[in-house]
Amino acid sequence: MKVAVLGTGAVAIALAKGFVGTGHSVVFGSRDVNGKTAVDALAQVPGSSVAPYAVAAQSADMAVLATSWSGAENALELAGAANLAGKLVIDVTNPLDFSTGKPTLALGFPNSAGAQVQAWLPGAHVVKAFNIISATRMVNPRFEDGIPDMLIAGNAAAAKQQTSQILTSFGWRTAIDMGDISKAYLLEALAMTWIDYGVARNHWTHGFSLLGQSLEPPLGRPTGKPARAQESARRPGR
Ligand SMILES: NC(=O)c1ccc[n+]([C@@H]2O[C@H](COP(=O)([O-])OP(=O)(O)OC[C@H]3O[C@@H](n4cnc5c(N)ncnc54)[C@H](OP(=O)(O)O)[C@@H]3O)[C@@H](O)[C@H]2O)c1
Repeated sequence: MKVAVLGTGAVAIALAKGFVGTGHSVVFGSRDVNGKTAVDALAQVPGSSVAPYAVAAQSADMAVLATSWSGAENALELAGAANLAGKLVIDVTNPLDFSTGKPTLALGFPNSAGAQVQAWLPGAHVVKAFNIISATRMVNPRFEDGIPDMLIAGNAAAAKQQTSQILTSFGWRTAIDMGDISKAYLLEALAMTWIDYGVARNHWTHGFSLLGQSLEPPLGRPTGKPARAQESARRPGR
């Protein structure tokens, strides 16, 4: 699969390494293919290439939006909604406002960056993912006390399935499907929780895990049994 990684920052480089390391090819999208960040990205991800946003988006099977939030709308305009129509677009952005000196969320319930990106790309299958972890832990997110879970949200089941497979191949424990793209606000609030924890402690290596989760089915309870009955049914010896 050919992946257009839109952006050339730390997140773009980390995820590009993950895609190349799992057998995919990567083209970075950038405003300046000869600029310092593009040259750095190419050097750090052997085998990758870089192209203007539109060329990267048009030539790829899927895309990752890894720009700053302030640059996201422009990056997608340059990429061209038509070039991403019908494709999975993983949105990693967090809608951060740095105007007060400390990061805060520029958008909140019921709006979110994920929902806004889907509105900008009406024909694409946007899935929010990877936004609740540091770039340094997006691939092989192994901690001394376990492997974290990634929450995802998006409208298209097939796109979420594809994202889930990517997460598994990158070493994540579980991709937890939170629902359609309107639920992206939950992931972005969780990212703010992650950031606040990090700022208060100057600690940047932490991740989330949901204990006691139901692994099957991914959403809902089709048997209609109450949760306690299902839990009892799963317990060994019953
Ligand atoms: N850093 C983390 O650990 C982390 C973790 C989770 C989520 N995130 C989120 O992931 C996203 C990327 O973060 P980052 O730290 O890698 O990089 P960043 O500094 O937030 O963004 C860098 C990229 O944004 C693009 N960009 C900036 N302004 C633009 C504009 N006006 N038009 C088009 N493109 C523009 C640049 O692309 P050009 O090549 O064109 O200059 C650059 O490659 C952010 O939304 C961030 O909140 C970050």
